[in-house]
Amino acid sequence: MPIKPKSEAEIAIMRMGGKLLAELFIKIEALVRPGAVSKDIDSFAYDFITRAGAKPSFKGYKVGGAKYPASICASRNDEVIHGIPNRTPFNEGDIVGIDIGLNLRGYHVDAARTYAVGTISAEAARLVKTTEEAFFTGVAVLKANVHLGDLSAAIQSAAERAGYSVVRQFAGHGIGSKLHEEPQVSNHGKAGEGPTLPAGTTIAIEPMINAGVSEVLMMDDDWTIVTRDGMLSSHYEHTVLITETGYEILTALS
Ligand code: MF3
Ligand code: CO
Repeated sequence: MPIKPKSEAEIAIMRMGGKLLAELFIKIEALVRPGAVSKDIDSFAYDFITRAGAKPSFKGYKVGGAKYPASICASRNDEVIHGIPNRTPFNEGDIVGIDIGLNLRGYHVDAARTYAVGTISAEAARLVKTTEEAFFTGVAVLKANVHLGDLSAAIQSAAERAGYSVVRQFAGHGIGSKLHEEPQVSNHGKAGEGPTLPAGTTIAIEPMINAGVSEVLMMDDDWTIVTRDGMLSSHYEHTVLITETGYEILTALS
């Protein structure tokens, strides 16, 4: 299946959804505090998204047979992705990945960031910063007809030269009228390999970076993904449009 670029009309809708999601992430920053619980952030996100006339993309989303039960994923410390919101209070020093998708007028946007709860260790801060830098190192190579492997390789090398490992069992994805479209956007790869991406391609790029080994495991709830060695993991994601000369982050304010 070839990668199908979006029309200007589709991009305009995704841009609007992306601004909405960016505003939500700014509001959530103030809510991630010691003693707060992820279930309250989930309710806040649900209200924000629905009041804006959009729908939470994750709620009821099916993977295998199971439906995801919440509007956000909240993944703390050694949890990599897909943590289900709960009532366990955040502790000072935690890092919490919050991942949210919304569907505005039939088009999805998807983003994630990892927040610090109060003051965090220097090592945790370096991991979070490196994950964001790996994302920006990756997108810097984007322009019309770039090889997907150029993006993947740039993310991988930024993470690994900092001494970290990239999660290989999960990846980013094309996005549009479906939350997950082609292509799969791996966070490791080789420059020059893979399909080329025409201008108008929209992809969710989402490095998941581990302080220790790259291997991950699924918990008994059948959703939460944790690091195999119990060490910290960080996640950062934006929905990105590829343009003739570069890229546009759709899930950012400007
Ligand atoms: N952002 C996640 C992804 O891109 C979506 C979470 S899957 C869900 O795959 F099941 F939680 F919705
Ligand atoms: Co995603």
